[in-house]
Amino acid sequence: MNERGLLMNEQIRPDQINAAGHLTIGGVDTLELAAEFGTPLVVYDVAQIRDQFRRFQAVFEQNQVDYEVSYASKAFASKAMYQVVAQEHGHIDVVSGGEMTTAIQAGFPMDKATFHGNNKSATELRLALTHHIGMIVIDNFHEIELLSQLLTELDTQTDVMLRITPGISAHTNEYIQTGQVDSKFGFDLDSGQADQALQQVLANPRMHMRGIHAHIGSQIFEVVGFEGAAQKLVSVAKHWHDEFGYTTEILNVGGGFGIKYTTDDHPLAPEAFVDAIVKAVKKAASEANLPEPGIWIEPGRSIAGPAGYNLYTVGSRKDIPGYLPFLTVDGGMGDNIRPALYQAEYETVLANDPQAPATETVRIAGKYCESGDILSYHQALPATKPGDVLAMLDTGAYGYAMASNYNRNPRPAVVFVENGHAQEVVKRETWSDMARLDQDYNL
Ligand SMILES: Cc1ncc(COP(=O)(O)O)c(C=O)c1O
Repeated sequence: MNERGLLMNEQIRPDQINAAGHLTIGGVDTLELAAEFGTPLVVYDVAQIRDQFRRFQAVFEQNQVDYEVSYASKAFASKAMYQVVAQEHGHIDVVSGGEMTTAIQAGFPMDKATFHGNNKSATELRLALTHHIGMIVIDNFHEIELLSQLLTELDTQTDVMLRITPGISAHTNEYIQTGQVDSKFGFDLDSGQADQALQQVLANPRMHMRGIHAHIGSQIFEVVGFEGAAQKLVSVAKHWHDEFGYTTEILNVGGGFGIKYTTDDHPLAPEAFVDAIVKAVKKAASEANLPEPGIWIEPGRSIAGPAGYNLYTVGSRKDIPGYLPFLTVDGGMGDNIRPALYQAEYETVLANDPQAPATETVRIAGKYCESGDILSYHQALPATKPGDVLAMLDTGAYGYAMASNYNRNPRPAVVFVENGHAQEVVKRETWSDMARLDQDYNL
């Protein structure tokens, strides 16, 4: 413990250390998880997923607002994850036929799903419509036309929102009023494209126009960007009300709520974000003399991220005089490409003694044939030896979701742990799975 009574790594709770001094997840010893399911292993603490969900939902409930907490499933999608979200009465956002099919196979109620994307195919839209998806967020004019053809073909109707580019871009501690017309997502406001889209949608009786969507960025640590987005969305709603007689029912402010990856990150609590958004929408709606709209949010990272851990086994080591050593593990960019892709940082601890004082700083390297395959560029650790298990913290978002089979390495298993029980919810791929789709060449 340090002088504040916290563990040396603040991303681990004191109750996560068992009598043997090992790191536990959901009440199960990480060394047992590694022994039973092998490494590299992706582990989720299900109670933590539920807790994040409930914290977001509670603030809406307290404020008596119509709402949906829509889990952005691109952060981590699997049948088990969709089933947990359903148990929490959550909503999901899906962006592909694959995510949609996984949710359908999980038995997720598709009327509580939103379909996003800037190039939805006819096949994907057909799948969405035949499964009566709850909401389609229309991104562009091509989609309006395609959707309208499919609605006629299938003789059906759907609820829709329009995605707009709000002219606000937020990332971590930066918040920029960009005007941001240069985005591949959504309809531009200033040029009148959003107005045109609204008129086209309102003219189609098969499309029920429900609201406006905007997503301003990721890993955001300040409320000001969300407040700005909320004000902007209300001003669009006001304009549409006055100009076209259309009353907006729902404002969807997207996701992007930041999490703690390292000791340098100081994110706000989920409650702080929701509270600020609700207050900003209520104030702006009242000033604009509009009825209070429902408010939807789409957290991905903040729900899946803190609940996830990657377990690795230490293998080889390379010491070069004058440089940080390379400590190589049995995973890498194939199970978590974020550090290689955009220098994302994580904290890693020794699973059998997460409290042990650090004695050196190392680079944690992966086993993939790529010099950039580094999981951590500078990690303080106690002495390690081959066979030790390392636990990388807060890896639950955009890690397994972006996993690949580079070098024909199988993707890891995913295990959900809750109340002292562990269950494999995605099987580990095998070497023979690597050629599963291959065909012999016989021309
Ligand atoms: C439209 C939309 N909603 C929600 C999210 C989730 O963002 P985050 O995982 O940062 O909460 C994203 C992420 O890209 C997004 O594009």
